[in-house]
Amino acid sequence: MRVLSGIQSSGKLHLGNYLGALKQHIELQQDNECFYFIANYHALTTIHDPDLARSLTRDVALDYLALGLDPTKAALYRQTDLPEVCELQWILSCVTGKGLLERAVSYKDKLSKGLTSSMGLFCYPVLQAADILIVESDWVPVGKDQVQHIEMTADMAGYFNGTFGNGEEILRAPEARLNQAFTVPGIDGHKMSKSYGNAIDLFDTPKNSKKRIMSILTDSTPVEDPKDPATCNVFAILSLMVEPDELAEWEQRYRAGGMGYGDVKKRLAERFEETFGPAREKRAELEKDEAYVEGVLVEGAKRARATAEPLMAKIREACGLQTAK
Ligand code: ADP
Ligand code: TRP
Repeated sequence: MRVLSGIQSSGKLHLGNYLGALKQHIELQQDNECFYFIANYHALTTIHDPDLARSLTRDVALDYLALGLDPTKAALYRQTDLPEVCELQWILSCVTGKGLLERAVSYKDKLSKGLTSSMGLFCYPVLQAADILIVESDWVPVGKDQVQHIEMTADMAGYFNGTFGNGEEILRAPEARLNQAFTVPGIDGHKMSKSYGNAIDLFDTPKNSKKRIMSILTDSTPVEDPKDPATCNVFAILSLMVEPDELAEWEQRYRAGGMGYGDVKKRLAERFEETFGPAREKRAELEKDEAYVEGVLVEGAKRARATAEPLMAKIREACGLQTAK
């Protein structure tokens, strides 16, 4: 299957990004043809500092590579290295009704968080549809909050084909692929997010990571009393990071009483270190080799353009858009 996904370079990546998106991106590279990109055009909806934009773009590349993305298997590229994306975005926006975009939940969420309603923010899902359709992807692995954008992509592909396809399916609608239907809670119990100040960053110092984990919000049940794992934020995260046998033991300890939340937090901190400690070291090495990272991105874009260029030519032809030969 051809797989495509993207991560915005709009802040440091956190545990929610990893468990909800990156982890499965990396797993999928084994048996699929994968395209992963750094959505730096999308990030421009919120990041208006050029130095920050550059360093966050580089950070996402380093994070992917440190966490196990293998550039010989998956193509990793910057969105800005695939100019066909912006061209297709314009074309899609000419066949997409405003009503569809007005129904986008993430747009409404962003406005309610105080973001300014720019055209970029409003058209965000059209750019995302272009990302997906231009490489003819079959699967789009994302977290639950992105499913509506994938459904909108299918709608836009349909509008385009209906208008310009002349009976042919020029743009192919993909399928969203959810890891599990979960949302990783942040240290305050709400959805972990870069913008809520409740995240456990993937590549913080070991000391800070531990401090964040030890501060996850729990209820005030006394140590000796039984506790309900189903309502505990620490357990929710632990359940995504340990083997089923170990989880079953913790579940028993919760229900039996006599276990303090500090114990399970310590185990989570230890597990976090086991999981991300080696990646932190690899990331520090990669950081020293800028030329290698740049080479990976350039090569990744080349692979994506091998599909995007001929498809774009076909799209222009279908719309009657001429360019100099
Ligand atoms: P943020 O909310 O921190 O800005 P993004 O919206 O950039 O995160 O999300 C990037 C990817 O990570 C998306 O596929 C999204 O579904 C996933 N993701 C983000 N936060 C979580 C979370 N708390 N739980 C599960 N998946 C998440
Ligand atoms: N909107 C996605 C997010 O916030 C990022 C993204 C941009 C994306 N384009 C995409 C994800 C295409 C999947 C496919 O996480």
